[in-house]
Amino acid sequence: MIIERLKDFLTPNSTVEKEGILVAKEVADKTVWDKLADENPTHAVISANDEEAAAKKSVNQITDIKQHIKPGDVLLDCGAGYGRVAKYLLPEVELGGYLAVDSAYQMLALFKQWYQKSDTEQQTPLLLINADIHTLPLKDSSVDVVIVCAVFLHNHKSVVEKAMLEIKRVVKPGGKVLIYSSFPRAMTFMGLQGMAYQVLLNLMGRPFKNGPVRYYRRSEIMHLFDNFTEVELCPIGYNFLPKTLIFLPKPLEVVWRRGLANPINSLLEKITPARLKPYFAVHYDVVATK
Ligand SMILES: C[S@@+](CC[C@H](N)C(=O)[O-])C[C@H]1O[C@@H](n2cnc3c(N)ncnc32)[C@H](O)[C@@H]1O
Repeated sequence: MIIERLKDFLTPNSTVEKEGILVAKEVADKTVWDKLADENPTHAVISANDEEAAAKKSVNQITDIKQHIKPGDVLLDCGAGYGRVAKYLLPEVELGGYLAVDSAYQMLALFKQWYQKSDTEQQTPLLLINADIHTLPLKDSSVDVVIVCAVFLHNHKSVVEKAMLEIKRVVKPGGKVLIYSSFPRAMTFMGLQGMAYQVLLNLMGRPFKNGPVRYYRRSEIMHLFDNFTEVELCPIGYNFLPKTLIFLPKPLEVVWRRGLANPINSLLEKITPARLKPYFAVHYDVVATK
C-alpha cells in the first residue's frame, strides 16, 4: 500500500506507479521490452511478424557476422533480445562462448527457452546476463567480438557513449566490434523529425526515454570509436521521404507510408546513380577493430 504523503519525498515526475509499486521512469521505459517480449518478440526486435520473416530478414547480417568471427571466439551480444542472432549464427559456427546481455528479463527468458531445446546451439556455451549495456559486469579484455544490433538507436546518446566505453574495455586488443542498425543518419528527413521529437522529450522532462530513435552524424559515430585502430562506416538502405511521420495519427500515417513514401522511395532508388546513393542511406553499420 502506497502512503500518499510519502510521495512528497520523491522527485516530481520521476516515477510511475505499477500495481502498487513505484518504478523509476528510466527503469519503466526499459520494461517496455519485457512487455514486447510477451506480445510479439520477432516484431519487437526486427519488425517481422513471425519467425520465418525474421529468418529471411537476418540472412545478410548473419553472413556479415560470419566474415568477422572464427570458431572458438567468445562473442558478446549487447542487447541480445530473445537471441535472434544466436539462433541463426550458432548452427553455423561453434563459438568458445556466447555472452548475451539484455536489460529485459523476459527477452532473456525466451532466449533460454529455445537454446535449451536445441542440441546444435548448445555446442556453444551460453551466459545470459540481465544487465544494462553501459554497466557491463564483465572483465577487461575478455571477449573477442562484440555485436550490437538495433539497440543503440533506442537509447539516449549519453547511454551509448558510456556503453561504447564499456565495450572498448571488455573487448581484447585486436578484437572486433560490429554495430548493425544502430546509427540512423541525422541528415535525412527522418533524422530531422527524430531530433524534433528529442526536443519534445527534453521539454517533457523525459530525455532518457528508452525506445524513441536517436539519429547520428558521421562525426558523432567516429567520435564514439576514438582510439580504435580501424573503423569502417557502411551506408545501408535508401530513403528520401521519411517512411513514417511520427506526429500523424496512426491511420493517416499508414496512408502516408504505403501510398506515398514507399512507392516514391522505391522509384527514386531505381533512378539515383550508385555513387549518390550513400547520401540517401538510412543508417550506418560499423565494423571496428580495437
Ligand atoms: C530491437 S531489440 C534488438 C534485439 C537483438 N539485438 C536483435 O537484433 O535481434 C532491442 C533490445 O535491446 C535491449 N535494450 C535496449 N536498451 C538497452 C540497454 N540500455 N541495456 C541493455 N539492453 C537494452 C531491449 O531490451 C531489447 O531486447
